[in-house]
Amino acid sequence: MTAVGLGKIILLGEHAVVYGYPALAAALDRGVTIAAVPTPAGGSLRIDIPAWSLKVSATDDHPVARSLCAIADELGIGRPTVTLVGDAQIPPGAGLGSSAALAVAVTRALLLHDRRKADRAVVARAADASEMLMHGRSSGVDVALAIAGGVGVFRKATGLRSFKSQPLRVLVGPSGAPRSTAAMVDRVAHETHEVVDDARLRELGGLTDTGTTALLASDLVGLGAAMNRAHQILAGLGVSTEQLDALCEAARVTGAHGAKLTGAGGGGAVIAIAPRDREQAVLSEWKKAGVTGFVATIGGGVS
Ligand code: MEV
Repeated sequence: MTAVGLGKIILLGEHAVVYGYPALAAALDRGVTIAAVPTPAGGSLRIDIPAWSLKVSATDDHPVARSLCAIADELGIGRPTVTLVGDAQIPPGAGLGSSAALAVAVTRALLLHDRRKADRAVVARAADASEMLMHGRSSGVDVALAIAGGVGVFRKATGLRSFKSQPLRVLVGPSGAPRSTAAMVDRVAHETHEVVDDARLRELGGLTDTGTTALLASDLVGLGAAMNRAHQILAGLGVSTEQLDALCEAARVTGAHGAKLTGAGGGGAVIAIAPRDREQAVLSEWKKAGVTGFVATIGGGVS
């Protein structure tokens, strides 16, 4: 049996969410799938994801090995002699929640193998332990979306409040530039001196509220304006790059309602929303810049 963890995009509120502000986020329709199969006699817990060229044993000196151990320890299962064979439909380290998707899929696969119920709280605790190890500090938004799917507003204090909205088509552009979430979270901490009431964090939180209201009213112009402003603030906090700025600007001049970096920044991915008849033009501008984007449909379930 195969276990799944979904990737995600943050429409508004990344970084501020670490300080307790809301983030508007949505799961992608793709992520990581894992099946646990018995390891040949004598072997240890290991993971093999050919799509990411990842082949690691729990005893290796590797971040994913430490993540496997953190999950197994949290579940209290020791080191079972299984191989976690996986596939991935999102790139790793691209700001699309790949590490949370992996942690959730691994946790669910280990629970399935152990014939235990994949209770949401149990999965979240184990995946959060892995995320803390990977990123140092984490709001939990990526794990919440990887588990629940859908779209919603996440707050550290209250978790994910999912809601239904009209389907929204979002252009996603993985820049291909590697980045470290931990380094970007540290940069924001340095920039804001971790003052929760910092005006920029407060404005990012306010933009989540404005953008959520706009999304629920299918006001894409309003949502796009909130995204543009959020990108400006994130850039001011030092988490954008020239490449991300250029990809966002290319989307805007091609007719997008709004564009911004998504996730931690410092590389990773950009997102844009555009009128339907401008989507291909935005994707081909990104292609000229060496970025192969795709369209993700989020929300839905409302007629
Ligand atoms: C990462 O997807 C988003 C950040 O806000 C970190 C976090 O919330 O854990 C940068």
